[in-house]
Amino acid sequence: MSNTKILVTRQWPTGPQERLAASHDVTFRAPDTTMSHDEFMAAAKEYDVIMPTVSDKIPAEFYPAAKGKVKILASYGVGYNHIDVEAARANGIAVTNTPDVLTDCTADLAMGLLLAAARRIGEGERETRAGKWEGWRPTHMIGKKVTGATIGIVGFGRIGQAMARRAHFGFGMKVVFQDAWNVPDDIKAANGNAEQLGSIEEVAAASDFLSLHCPGGDATFKLINADIFKAMKPGCILVNSARGDVVDEDALFDALDAGTLTAAGLDVFMGEPALDPRFLKYENLVLAPHLGSATDGTRDAMGHRAIDNMEAFLKGDTPGDLVS
Ligand code: DGY
Repeated sequence: MSNTKILVTRQWPTGPQERLAASHDVTFRAPDTTMSHDEFMAAAKEYDVIMPTVSDKIPAEFYPAAKGKVKILASYGVGYNHIDVEAARANGIAVTNTPDVLTDCTADLAMGLLLAAARRIGEGERETRAGKWEGWRPTHMIGKKVTGATIGIVGFGRIGQAMARRAHFGFGMKVVFQDAWNVPDDIKAANGNAEQLGSIEEVAAASDFLSLHCPGGDATFKLINADIFKAMKPGCILVNSARGDVVDEDALFDALDAGTLTAAGLDVFMGEPALDPRFLKYENLVLAPHLGSATDGTRDAMGHRAIDNMEAFLKGDTPGDLVS
């Protein structure tokens, strides 16, 4: 058992929690809620390692307060927009995340949202459960055909590529995408013969479905705004399994009202878990509570990956997933 004091901010799956407990001086914080400002400030003086999650927004005052005490934020999750990476670096705090292990499950969920929004599965389920189903008829709950349609992907990293493969090889979809990096031909070929376009507007104009896979944070805040909705091919369906703040929600509701946007499948929201009440008004929205990585295998693997990163750091090695 090492002397390093570790704080785990949320309840983890049993496997990685037991692994941590077996060989470290670890505090598993209870209750299973997001860390408050005061808790972070107290933790800054008490722990050598903090293992936060994507829902623990770390306050700006934490970093200078933690300088010299907290050595690493070994975060559980791939996204790290809850951490000010520059401030961490400036105060000598390493940051790691848990990529790769959640790629497939997040892309699976995005595909599920796309199908549910296109084929009106949420709406149909509500009708069936309410006892309002009047039986099969040729004009009942007509959706949008997925097979053979064009999908536009914003952000062609691991999860964007995994979504492209599902769409192309599973559903015969044509794939176009936008990303800031110039994607090499072999990667485009391996991921559904995807075609890179010059801007999000071009991708939106070409796509029957637009799926977001870019990181959150300042650089992508309200990236999908009124201009993008205006550029969209009429009848487009939006899927967001990235971060809520990537979408300007006022512009989204305007696009739904105008009919430019036919439907949307959303796993993430601005200011979640609080939800703008307007979301509940639209039958053509499929709403999920940030479930992208929520499978037994993946959530276990994320915990083990966070521990691997932390243990490598404590041994003096460079962690596999060092962000900063
Ligand atoms: C992440 O890891 O960033 C996801 O949003 C939650 O798994």
